[in-house]
Amino acid sequence: MSPFFLLLLLISSLNLGHAQSQPKNQAFISMLITQNGLDFVKQLLVEKAISSLISLQLPNIEKSTKIPLMGNVYLVLSNITMYRMDVPFSNVKPKETGIFILASGVSCNLSMNWYYSYSTWLGPVRISDHEVQVEGMEVGLTLGLKNQEGSLDLKLKDCDSNVKDVFIKLDGGASWLYQGIVDAFEGIIESAVKNAITKKLGKGISKLDSYLKSLPKEVPVDDHSSLNVTFVNDVLLSDSSVGFQTNGLFIERNGSLPILNLFHKNTKLPILCTNLSKMLAITLDEAVFNSASALYYDAKFMHWIVDQIPDQSLLNTAGWRFIIPQLYKKYPNHKMNLNISFSSPPLVEISNHKAGANVFVDLTIDVLEEDKVIPVACISLVIQASGLVKINGNNLVGAVRLDDFGMSLKWSNVGNLRMYLIQPAMWAIIETVFLPYANEHLGKGLPLPIIHGFTLQDAEIILSMSSVAVCSDVAYTESNEHFVKLIE
Ligand SMILES: *[C@@H]1O[C@H](CO)[C@@H](O)[C@H](O)[C@H]1NC(C)=O
Ligand SMILES: *[C@@H]1O[C@H](CO)[C@@H](O)[C@H](O)[C@H]1NC(C)=O
Ligand SMILES: *[C@@H]1O[C@H](CO)[C@@H](O)[C@H](O)[C@H]1NC(C)=O
Ligand SMILES: *[C@@H]1O[C@H](CO)[C@@H](O)[C@H](O)[C@H]1NC(C)=O
Ligand SMILES: *[C@@H]1O[C@H](CO)[C@@H](O)[C@H](O)[C@H]1NC(C)=O
Ligand SMILES: *[C@@H]1O[C@H](CO)[C@@H](O)[C@H](O)[C@H]1NC(C)=O
Repeated sequence: MSPFFLLLLLISSLNLGHAQSQPKNQAFISMLITQNGLDFVKQLLVEKAISSLISLQLPNIEKSTKIPLMGNVYLVLSNITMYRMDVPFSNVKPKETGIFILASGVSCNLSMNWYYSYSTWLGPVRISDHEVQVEGMEVGLTLGLKNQEGSLDLKLKDCDSNVKDVFIKLDGGASWLYQGIVDAFEGIIESAVKNAITKKLGKGISKLDSYLKSLPKEVPVDDHSSLNVTFVNDVLLSDSSVGFQTNGLFIERNGSLPILNLFHKNTKLPILCTNLSKMLAITLDEAVFNSASALYYDAKFMHWIVDQIPDQSLLNTAGWRFIIPQLYKKYPNHKMNLNISFSSPPLVEISNHKAGANVFVDLTIDVLEEDKVIPVACISLVIQASGLVKINGNNLVGAVRLDDFGMSLKWSNVGNLRMYLIQPAMWAIIETVFLPYANEHLGKGLPLPIIHGFTLQDAEIILSMSSVAVCSDVAYTESNEHFVKLIE
């Protein structure tokens, strides 16, 4: 059975348990890191681990040992420095209990100073600059990853290492002596290296953990709004991927207003990408877009007065002379403006074929007379737009076009209007005023919750019933210092 199918089953079974889940556990953006994504992150971590272990200093080792022909010898190894490390094979595997990382065939070279002294000679004698090679080491880590009050909690659950061989190369001196030293120190060096690596990795993991905990719970979208990226529900570990779910709705930048409770849906399954080689899948429910729409609507951002349009003749009653003769008769050659006001938040709908929105707008025609603004008629429009969804950097951006629109007269002070005459003018206003305005905003886009320093690459967008999935590879920009410093 395909691992993805297993994941699907796992999530479905979790869903049954959460069928009556509280709104606070609802997830509208979910993320799936595939095996390829885990491999990518693992490789990055292994490289960082190696660079942090290079020039690692191990504590001094002191020991008295009995060596044939010499009797009791007192030995000190000091300035033990790891100067090279090689990790030819490594592997990452998510398991139910955690994420398992295994590095094998690891070898490292150490340099150190040796001192020895023994009673019968005058000593101590100093020998320095020797090399030790530790070979065939295996290091296995199990990382626990869970959701702790909306943040990710990463714990080193288990760290195990074993060493196959320690080679000690000593230059000069008497080999009969050195063999004794080698025998006495092999085990000690082995465990010193193991301890040092384990300790360093433990520190690295706990730094990574603090970094994950410090990730903001909201991603600013603009001055006004943020995306709530608080983690909800358990981290989903299958044998080929790790899944996260976040609240994902738009919130006021300062979080002072509660989100409208419009969307009581069950937790959505992450969409499965058609291309399983992609590293990452991010799924956004249409509720994310609708929460943005509700938020901007409540904040009165969806009302504006238009006094500049490409066809400026439409802003003078003379331009409407043949369309609404009564208007021209009552206010000849008057300037006009258009008051565009959404009558409800735009409703975003995503289906297998398209992303679209239904927009309900009241367009009031105002006539300007000296200092007065005289509303003369109001037309209700229902605009059906559909859009293209694209990735720009780490942002999901959109562009909409007009599919269709309907109109009706809401009220008029200039008699009944002949809607069929008005329609071409409305079409022009929608095409030249409304859509460019909408596209300017949609073009800025929605930042996807991606850790700083990583960028989406070769992203593919898949629309499905009520959600959008972004299936993508990621690249890491080395210049980002946060992540580089993580485990050093
Ligand atoms: C963000 O989402 C979390 C989890 O769903 C929720 O508890 C919290 O109230 C949300 N924050 C805001 C400001 O709505
Ligand atoms: C300790 O080892 C490092 C690296 O091999 C070397 O650069 C340094 O000189 C050594 N220090 C002493 C006091 O031997
Ligand atoms: C590491 O040690 C091995 C065995 O002593 C040696 O063959 C190898 O050249 C050393 N590597 C470096 C980079 O010093
Ligand atoms: C929102 O937060 C910003 C920055 O912390 C602050 O300057 C601003 O006054 C806050 N606004 C409200 C309404 O709390
Ligand atoms: C699937 O994604 C991988 C990695 O981005 C890419 O190399 C490959 O060409 C894609 N395959 C198809 C059929 O698009
Ligand atoms: C614009 O029209 C709306 C009703 O559609 C009205 O509530 C609002 O006051 C008008 N704004 C201006 C500036 O005339």
